[in-house]
Amino acid sequence: MSQNKQQQQTLKYFSRYANNWFRQATFDNKKIQSSAQQRNMFVLNFLKKRKYSNFLDAGCGSGNLVYEASKVVKFAHGIDFAKSMIELAKKKFKNKKIRFDQDDILKFDTQIKYDVIAANGFIEYFTEKELIKITNKFHSILKKNGVLIVSSRNRLFNLFSLNEFTKLEINSKMIKLLTQECISLIDLSFEKFKKKPGLNFEVIKYRQPKTGVNVDLINQYTPKQLIKFYNKYKFESFDISGINYHPVIPSFNQDKYIAEFNTRIIERNYFNKKIIPFSSSFMLLLRKK
Ligand SMILES: C[S@@+](CC[C@H](N)C(=O)[O-])C[C@H]1O[C@@H](n2cnc3c(N)ncnc32)[C@H](O)[C@@H]1O
Repeated sequence: MSQNKQQQQTLKYFSRYANNWFRQATFDNKKIQSSAQQRNMFVLNFLKKRKYSNFLDAGCGSGNLVYEASKVVKFAHGIDFAKSMIELAKKKFKNKKIRFDQDDILKFDTQIKYDVIAANGFIEYFTEKELIKITNKFHSILKKNGVLIVSSRNRLFNLFSLNEFTKLEINSKMIKLLTQECISLIDLSFEKFKKKPGLNFEVIKYRQPKTGVNVDLINQYTPKQLIKFYNKYKFESFDISGINYHPVIPSFNQDKYIAEFNTRIIERNYFNKKIIPFSSSFMLLLRKK
């Protein structure tokens, strides 16, 4: 499969961004938490609950999560297709339990079987066809009952960000369906929420406004869309939480207030389904069926 424009732009952007990413993703409890740190923290909290042997971080960036995970698992593996990311990860993080490889997930081949795979800030950079291929790959390299943890930009948040994304959703006439999904998330248990009909899996049809990452198309999904998608490819979702909670709109003195609220949420370890509508990303936990 030759690289499409979305993946070419992704490679170009992240290849140039390794040092910045490292700073953004470095764990520092005294510092305000970036979304990369929050996602990594979520995965770490999960890994700490049990003794896992093999962990893979797909699209590991500068390797911060792999390093932290290596303190609680037997073997922590990170792959990323950006050479500069892998070079930096190898330079910064060395111990016997860690391995980093420069690899494109679409071509990745391994004999290793993993207990847990994490894909943070990752699935948004692929077409549906590629995502199916990656999902099947994850399925084949996970052990029986293995766990896949994915994060996604949250399409439901477009209702509450009150910015260009909101205007586009109004024009796309998706507001009603998105609002219904938000209400179900608040009202129902996760098991009941999963059973509700909802949006089918699709890549957003409108041209998306620019984000901080210079890639034209960074996909967004709702929880329901991903739950359905992964169910089709033999993964059962078993938990979900909001990440990067926004108590006020993003344009409101972003650096200070949002980050302070976020830090408090993280300090209290308040990962929860009910904050999803107001969170710019969410984490989905999936078990191999
Ligand atoms: C948004 S960053 C997230 C990095 C890290 N997971 C984190 O949350 O801090 C996305 C990463 O995915 C990598 N990536 C994107 N497409 C990839 C592919 N086809 N194969 C391997 N890595 C890929 C990029 O190089 C980049 O480092």
